Order: sequence, then structure tokens, then C-alpha cells
Amino acid sequence: MTSSTKESSSSLAKHFTDLPSASVTSPILEYYRWAAPLYDVTRWAVLPGRRLAVDALELKPGETVLEIGTGTGSNLPSLCRTVGPSGWVIGIDLSPDMLAQARRRIRRNRLGNAILIRANAEAFALTRHVDAVLMSDSLSMMPNRDQVAALAAAALRPGGRLVAVDFGPFSGWGPLRALVRWWLRLNHVTLWTDAARTGESALWSRFRQTVTRPLLRSYATLLVARDLKQPAPP
Ligand SMILES: C[S@@+](CC[C@H](N)C(=O)[O-])C[C@H]1O[C@@H](n2cnc3c(N)ncnc32)[C@H](O)[C@@H]1O
Repeated sequence: MTSSTKESSSSLAKHFTDLPSASVTSPILEYYRWAAPLYDVTRWAVLPGRRLAVDALELKPGETVLEIGTGTGSNLPSLCRTVGPSGWVIGIDLSPDMLAQARRRIRRNRLGNAILIRANAEAFALTRHVDAVLMSDSLSMMPNRDQVAALAAAALRPGGRLVAVDFGPFSGWGPLRALVRWWLRLNHVTLWTDAARTGESALWSRFRQTVTRPLLRSYATLLVARDLKQPAPP
């Protein structure tokens, strides 16, 4: 949210109620323990559409954006640049190993308007609304998607927007589809876009405008939801 006096990062962090994340046991934590240092050099080629997703957020200077599952922070430089010094980028992630990489990126790029919080996307509370939410290749790793969706919407201000990019349905990929799904499962990913594409998901129906766009012959899907109808109480 834009305001004449910018909130400090410590006061911003206080708006988060973290769950007892220390007690969260998730195979994701173990997976990223070894995969986090390799993530940036191996994933750039297999996760397309992130730039499009950031652009689709239509961020303005001074706004606050929440990235759910921020990982090593590949999107942080462009998000920080777009909201500018008067805005904030909040990145949350379950994996301390991924957050450690993101912290390095923040230092390397001198991103003074980004904060990172370790939190479980399936159970966090935010007592301050944000203007936009980004989920970039993260929702497909979260089993309780309805819960994540509800919390993402609850974090948004009325009129806020949400953009997700993730693996697509791989329609028309023939026998390769089964192979890809198997490979994705090995990497803790399950496809989510079938529900989102039909617009039946409870999340998408809460926005006045939703657009889905297949990318690279349905390898990925970009979902843009604008103008949240019902503000959820913070
Ligand atoms: C494939 S990475 C994507 C990272 C980044 N958004 C990107 O585009 O490169 C998925 C991220 O989601 C995080 N994640 C998975 N489940 C999560 C959960 N329940 N809560 C928060 N983060 C989670 C993982 O730790 C990982 O960093």
C-alpha cells in the first residue's frame, strides 16, 4: 500500500504471525537442503514465464507485494526495482536453505526494499494487506492449495491482484506427459492448473477478472487475477 511515510522493515515483519514453522515437517525441507545451492544454475531453463508473471502484476512505485514461496529470490530484483524505494517486497518461504540463498541475492543486489520471512504458505497470518501477491512455481509444491489460496486472498487489499505462474497441463504432449509428471513428482511438484484453467477454483472466483494463458504449448500456465471482490478481514 502506498503511503507518504514508509513503514520500517521491522514493523512490516511484525504483521506476520508465523506458525510454529520449526515444528513443520515437510519433505520440501529435506529436498531443498541439498537442492538450494544448485537451484539457480539448474532451474533457469525449466521454469519459464517468471518475467511475464512479474510484469502481469502491474506493480506501481510505492506498492507492497508478497511473494509466496520466494525460493532463492530470482524474482526479487525485478520486483524491488518495480515497486521502487518507497515500496516493499515481502518474500516468504518454508525452506531456510532457499531463504539463505535469497538473502545472499539481496546482499549482492543491494535490495534495500526486500524482506524475507520464514513461513508456511499453508498457515500464515498477515495483519496488513498487500497490493499484490505472486506465486511463481511454488503453488504446485503445496498440497493444501485451497488453504494457500484462501490465505493469499486474505493477504490482499480490496482490488488487489494475484499472479501465479506454474507448470501447465502438458496437453497434447502424448506419452511424454506421463514422463514429465513422473519427473515433476520426483521434484515434489504436482500439477495444479487443471482446476485453475476451468475457473472453478474458489480462489479465482473471488476476483472480478481472471485470465489464463498457456505458455510453451501448455508446459506452463500464467494465471492473472485482478480486482479482488471481497476483502477478507486481516
Ligand atoms: C520451485 S521453487 C520457486 C521459487 C521461486 N518462486 C522461483 O520462481 O524461482 C518453490 C518454492 O516454494 C517453497 N515452498 C514449498 N512449499 C511451501 C510452503 N508450504 N510454504 C512456503 N514455501 C513453500 C519451496 O521451499 C521453494 O523455495
